[in-house]
Amino acid sequence: MIGRLLYDTGSLPEGKVEELRRASARRHVPIEWSFALDALQAERDQAVTIDTTQIWFNSESRSYVIIDAPGHVEFLRNMLSGAANAEAAVLVVDVQESAREQSFRHAYLLRLLGLQQVAVVVNKMDGVEFRAAPFRKVGREITEYLQGIGLKPTAVVPISARDGDNLATRSTRTEWYAGPTLIDVLDGFSVQSAPVARSLRLPIQDVYRFDNRRILVGLVESGIIRVGDELLLSPSNRIARVQSIETWGRATAPILAKAGRAVAFTIDQQFFVERGEIASHSDSPPKLSNVFRANLFWLGQRPLTPGAVLKLKLATKETMVSIQAIERVINTRTLSGHAADEMKCSEVGEVVLRSREILALDNHADYAATGRFVLVDGFETVGGGVISTDGYPDQRQLHRVKATNLTEVEHLLTPEARAWRNGHQGAVIWMTGLSGAGKSTLAMRLEQRLFNKGFHAYVLDGDNVRKGVNADLGFAPEDRIENIRRVGEMAALIADAGLIVITAFISPYIADRGRAREASGEAFYEVYVKADLETCEKRDPKGLYRRARTGDIKEFTGISAPYQAPLEPDVVVDTVENGIDECVDQLLAYVQQRVTLKIPSAAEVA
Ligand code: ADX
Repeated sequence: MIGRLLYDTGSLPEGKVEELRRASARRHVPIEWSFALDALQAERDQAVTIDTTQIWFNSESRSYVIIDAPGHVEFLRNMLSGAANAEAAVLVVDVQESAREQSFRHAYLLRLLGLQQVAVVVNKMDGVEFRAAPFRKVGREITEYLQGIGLKPTAVVPISARDGDNLATRSTRTEWYAGPTLIDVLDGFSVQSAPVARSLRLPIQDVYRFDNRRILVGLVESGIIRVGDELLLSPSNRIARVQSIETWGRATAPILAKAGRAVAFTIDQQFFVERGEIASHSDSPPKLSNVFRANLFWLGQRPLTPGAVLKLKLATKETMVSIQAIERVINTRTLSGHAADEMKCSEVGEVVLRSREILALDNHADYAATGRFVLVDGFETVGGGVISTDGYPDQRQLHRVKATNLTEVEHLLTPEARAWRNGHQGAVIWMTGLSGAGKSTLAMRLEQRLFNKGFHAYVLDGDNVRKGVNADLGFAPEDRIENIRRVGEMAALIADAGLIVITAFISPYIADRGRAREASGEAFYEVYVKADLETCEKRDPKGLYRRARTGDIKEFTGISAPYQAPLEPDVVVDTVENGIDECVDQLLAYVQQRVTLKIPSAAEVA
């Protein structure tokens, strides 16, 4: 059908049609329009960035992109990522086979994704001599089904894609049919405008630094952002004012940006904003929760079972989630649900998801872009779903900065003054690495060496801090996050006081170390204490790996909990390749160089 549509609208490459005609004539078969798509395919193979299931063509009145989604799972993946952005759908059924399981499932998926405009095309009318009866039977069946899930088809069109009946031109062989052609149907779909009238949702996609300014970038999914607006950033739950909306190559800076536009803007606060946060206005923010219910469409090869851990992508946010429960699996034909303990490939069901961190999200019915997600296993999209926040409380209250009415008090001393008193600058030497990599050993020796050379240094060590300040924290992901948050803040204070702080924490998450760096500012140096898991396990100084292997210790880093090695550490000390003394020498030289005061030269003083 698509091949023929391309032909009828003159969208095929030059010469392709003749070639098809000749090839078909040689084999004495009717022309095979789907080969036309192979021509496009070949063209696209050269431009690797183009999604091969997207097909462009023009009618007389406008341009289209078709997302091709035949029955198989591979294509449904495209549909999940593609149809989420589609404005209308055409459901194609075969008049001789009538609607099959696959069609109902597709229709259900469209509904799930919130598509409102759907038309039905009944193909292969040539196979039933263009009789009305078989068409009406199939048409009725699928229409009833669509109505059952709340979709009203804008039209049901009898076509023969092979012969071109009712695609771009009205067929003379379906006199009994007075409705529109396929092109009429397409041209009749209305263009869905971005939801400007809804509340603001602006997922932050990137944060760039220019000079001293931070520029936040993202797509306005709904609502309007204006210069001067008070924005609430979620889930970090912080407030800032829009200072400017940036443009390049325009004389006057815009004062607002509406839904559908990509925007770059600055805020009046210096705090750390990261990709994945959602900006809204304070009076109608997204919900905050780490547990929510969703209608999920599962495409994984392996059945989905409770406890499975997958990557969730929600707007610009990516995080790990686990399947807390499968509440019911839905029969997409009868629309009845039944309890099940797993979901098989291409089944739909209601599930409860739990994320490690708190998430900003919306009911899909209210805000499409921040109410849907895909699940990824490795590099493969294995599912997609829409969120229902019903029944789960908004956790925003729990995540407010508790104290209000604060005014920061400024020290009367400058960091320079303290540095001159101490003879060196303050700094944070942040060591990260697996348990047993040698962090504590190196930290304590480095502290001693620095001390002996007259530096003021102090070690914050995981096991020690966890006995005191952080005695209330365990090793669940959210506890580790809080552990590192507190240590990051403490280290920043101690460095601000002018000392060299050496921290020895596994600190397994990249994001947490990023936040620690933000807390400290300039004088923060990330040291990757590198040793492979095998070596650490062999060393096993505290016997913890052995116990982790037997399951005695749960969520043990490297065994049953993740470790994210730094991507761009300031220093790497390899404790497998080098002995302890060598490593300490390396660190000492590095730290000394960074913290020693630069005595201005005579020329500079002059
Ligand atoms: S972190 O992940 O939150 O940064 P931290 O460095 O404070 O961890 O504490 C790690 C120390 O706690 C390890 O050196 C080890 O002695 C001990 N420990 C006990 N249980 C665990 C566990 N499940 N995972 C990692 N370390 C553990």
